[in-house]
Amino acid sequence: MPKPSRICATKQEFYTLYPTYVAWKRVLLKQGGTTDGCYPPGPRSNISLSGLLAYRRGRLEFLQSLAQRYGDICYLKLGPHHTYFLNHPDLIKEVLVTNSQNFVKGLALQRAKRLFGEGLLTSEGEFHSRQRRLAQPAFHRARVESYATHMTAYADRSRQRWQDGATVDIAEEMMHLTLAITGKTLFDTDVESKTSEVGEAISRLLRATDTASLTSIFRDLLKKLPLLRRLDNTKAKFEQAKNKLDAIIYRLIDERRRSGTDRGDLLSMLLLAQDLEGNGGPMTDQQLRDEAITIFLTGHETTAAALTWTFYLLSRHPDVEARLHTEIDKVLGGHLPTIANLAHLSYTEMVLSESMRLYPPAWGIQRMALNDCEIGGYQVPKGAQVLMSQYVIQRDARYFPDPLRFDPERWTQQARDARPQFSYFPFGGGTRRCIGEGFAWMEGLLLLATLAQKWKMSLAPKHAVALQPVMSLRPKYGMRMTLKKRRQ
Ligand code: HEM
Repeated sequence: MPKPSRICATKQEFYTLYPTYVAWKRVLLKQGGTTDGCYPPGPRSNISLSGLLAYRRGRLEFLQSLAQRYGDICYLKLGPHHTYFLNHPDLIKEVLVTNSQNFVKGLALQRAKRLFGEGLLTSEGEFHSRQRRLAQPAFHRARVESYATHMTAYADRSRQRWQDGATVDIAEEMMHLTLAITGKTLFDTDVESKTSEVGEAISRLLRATDTASLTSIFRDLLKKLPLLRRLDNTKAKFEQAKNKLDAIIYRLIDERRRSGTDRGDLLSMLLLAQDLEGNGGPMTDQQLRDEAITIFLTGHETTAAALTWTFYLLSRHPDVEARLHTEIDKVLGGHLPTIANLAHLSYTEMVLSESMRLYPPAWGIQRMALNDCEIGGYQVPKGAQVLMSQYVIQRDARYFPDPLRFDPERWTQQARDARPQFSYFPFGGGTRRCIGEGFAWMEGLLLLATLAQKWKMSLAPKHAVALQPVMSLRPKYGMRMTLKKRRQ
């Protein structure tokens, strides 16, 4: 089990992690370590309920400690599930790309389906391939680039609203901003007036989904406990929030179908899509709802998290921040950034890449084996769970020496070429690779450049920074930062 001093990038992280470290040390010491030939090395016995609760409190540290203790492939029994945790880029590539047809999302997907229905993120097999074909044109480069002006206009609106010396929660600010941009690019609608209502519904949904992920593992056990009443409550709240969002989305679909016009947004593209390779039909209202809610949720939370951690890291590394400002001032010359500027904002891109290395918005990927197979020389049975974590591998010293150091220089072309594929995979890989990757890069860079052009931020004194790995890697207590207007 690594000491927090070895895995924490900042003092704040250290102090927040220490209690988790103590809890985990207890769990791992009790479990012991073993290899019995058939299985890869890993904790000997089934992870207990107390262990599972500790996992919930500090799952990233737990996964990191497994990697450090047991190596490239580790076996553990999480509740009733045989679980293989992979810590080598080649093994990850095998599951996501080479042998991807043998893996489905499985358990993780069942839980997420309550929220996303049969959208791109959660569907499987032929249905997923069809939906991906139908949605692809909406993410075509030219279409995505047409959203650049919306992105900078919304970022400009935020930065104009900010007051010099004010302390704000940057995590919340970024969520509002990316939510407004998703509303505009997906539905051509200004959700900003309703942001708090929609944002709150989404937050509640995500919290409920997270609770469900713990309970599914020990559902039978929990049925016998009084805790169930609380879970029932959570379920009711989840349904309420979901119904509220659904109502908004169905109303928008209905309005658009009746108007019959291409408004230039993603919804228009989804409505117009015809599956020429398959049965040629368009999407039904239900499919449109599932895809819209999928893009709505996946499209704003992850990018907001990436930007939040980037501003946090910049505030801790004034040298990097100064170099970023120099590039932005030189390339933009005081104007709002455009698509044409992106090719010249190379340091800005290196900063964002490095930030997503240390704080990957998608921190882990889970799959289930459809048939018996072999991974890393071990027999993996049908039905086994396979875990891979961007957070763990992207902090592995074999690929990123002195891994906790925030160093954008790791992203020169030469340095990238020297590293194995899948030592860095913030957007996943293979057929399930993020469809919004181009959108996310463009949005991340444009927003970072627009906001950093006018503002610097420093962490509010005594603000605790801790990780909350839910759907995305969020800062657990938000990110309270004081705004300082830049004098150029
Ligand atoms: C920094 C921002 C983002 C990160 C780090 C990210 C990460 C990911 C990852 C890792 C996956 C693959 C999950 C898996 O294999 O299980 C994924 C899938 C997906 N992402 Fe993103 N994403 C981001 C932004 C976006 C945006 C902006 C959109 C839409 C506008 C989006 C839409 C999707 C969709 C629809 C899928 C499912 C694709 C499929 O399975 O075919 N993402 N994302």
